[in-house]
Amino acid sequence: MKQEELKIACIGAGNSGTSHMIWFEQRIPGSVVTFCDLDRSIFDMTIDGYFGKGANISGDFKQDVGGLTEAFREIPFYTNADEMLNNEDVNAVLICTSCDAHAEMVEKCVKRGLHIMVEKPIAITEDDIEKVWDLLKDYPKVSTVNFTMRGAPVSLAAKHHVENGTIGKIVSVQYVNNVHYGDGYFRHWMRTQNRVGNLMLQKATHDFDIINSIIGLKPVSAAAFGSRLVYGGDMPDDLTCDVCENKTTCPMSVYRMFMDASKPVPAPHRRQCVYANEIDIDDNQTAIFQYEGGVNVSYSQSFNAPQQGGQRGGYFIGTEGIMHLKYYNEFVETPQGQMIAGSSSIDITRYHQKPASRIHEVYDWAGNNHFDGTGFGMEAKLALLTDKDTEIKNSIKEGYISAKMCLAAQKSIEEKRVVDLGLKSIL
Ligand SMILES: NC(=O)c1ccc[n+]([C@@H]2O[C@H](COP(=O)([O-])OP(=O)(O)OC[C@H]3O[C@@H](n4cnc5c(N)ncnc54)[C@H](O)[C@@H]3O)[C@@H](O)[C@H]2O)c1
Repeated sequence: MKQEELKIACIGAGNSGTSHMIWFEQRIPGSVVTFCDLDRSIFDMTIDGYFGKGANISGDFKQDVGGLTEAFREIPFYTNADEMLNNEDVNAVLICTSCDAHAEMVEKCVKRGLHIMVEKPIAITEDDIEKVWDLLKDYPKVSTVNFTMRGAPVSLAAKHHVENGTIGKIVSVQYVNNVHYGDGYFRHWMRTQNRVGNLMLQKATHDFDIINSIIGLKPVSAAAFGSRLVYGGDMPDDLTCDVCENKTTCPMSVYRMFMDASKPVPAPHRRQCVYANEIDIDDNQTAIFQYEGGVNVSYSQSFNAPQQGGQRGGYFIGTEGIMHLKYYNEFVETPQGQMIAGSSSIDITRYHQKPASRIHEVYDWAGNNHFDGTGFGMEAKLALLTDKDTEIKNSIKEGYISAKMCLAAQKSIEEKRVVDLGLKSIL
């Protein structure tokens, strides 16, 4: 299809959905024709922020306002996805609801033969993940999963180093993700199993996908442990820092964190108490995966890293050297949430080389998010919709494999045993 023929709808216009709509609308004015949400308040607050009428709440998808007009507010809005898809003439859909509704929305779009851009994870339960895979594995239209880090220049460079044999044959990987904004996941809907599944499906799914993309091998089995040691408790589910009597004394109050560590105060709908009773997901997990050929990958994520203590990436050990991939090489954010310095790095040390021959590469992404991956990832979606090729396919198969890794690791935590991923039939 030509880009001027694009008629995009969005289902779930929150942080991610609104930002995706804005990206397409800025890039191709008039391309986003309608949207649906149970409640349009996040969309309205985000647009207000863009036009200087309130705080910009688009979080990790922040972008420049250029090209957007106030008229964008007036595109048709629905509270029911079926009603929108029955009434509006659309050919592509962004699915950005909370994770529990992804599978249902994919099914609605498949029934109507629409191009599909679904947020990660593809779904959160075993049945829904298999359903989405069955619906999309041979789908003749575009179907992508939003793995925002795939398009980051540092991710592609690391992948190319391994493909080109710079470190020889992969032997093992040691990878961590210490999330310096981890408390944020416990301040809104992402804190309960029924909406999010678990935090591997929410967070590690990106890292698993990056590891898969870099090493180019297929995972076979998983062993994992997890626990919740920081968040949850017996505070009321509806308590927010705004009304809490411990607003300025509680170390986890968003206001106290701003005072102590200049941590940006999140949007109003993301200020619930991190010690709420309903919190039922783990806040740290460690998993080991065995890949084909006996390659072992260890992975650990924690949601309790301090503001300047975020770490993401790992060591890729090959027969001819080691590659250290660091997403947060340098990172400085203002209390207003503006990133003033940010870069990723790759360091490669090879056997039989003098120290000065080490490879050191820096990828500057200050001002952009997801390590520069959002913009390149969105360009890739546009390329697929307009019948062009791109290296950043973010295919359903990639989304399915990563989701299956998260499920297997969770099952291992619950059943205390090694779990086979059951991917043999598709690999
Ligand atoms: N790729 C990334 O880097 C990235 C980053 C953040 C979030 N996400 C994903 O994006 C999705 C949304 O997350 P978010 O941070 O935007 O959350 P959000 O709460 O800001 O937005 C979700 C929106 O979906 C709406 N919604 C829920 N059920 C719906 C339904 N049945 N019909 C219509 N609308 C419905 C909610 O009202 C809300 O406005 C999640 O799946 C999350 O995993 C991906």
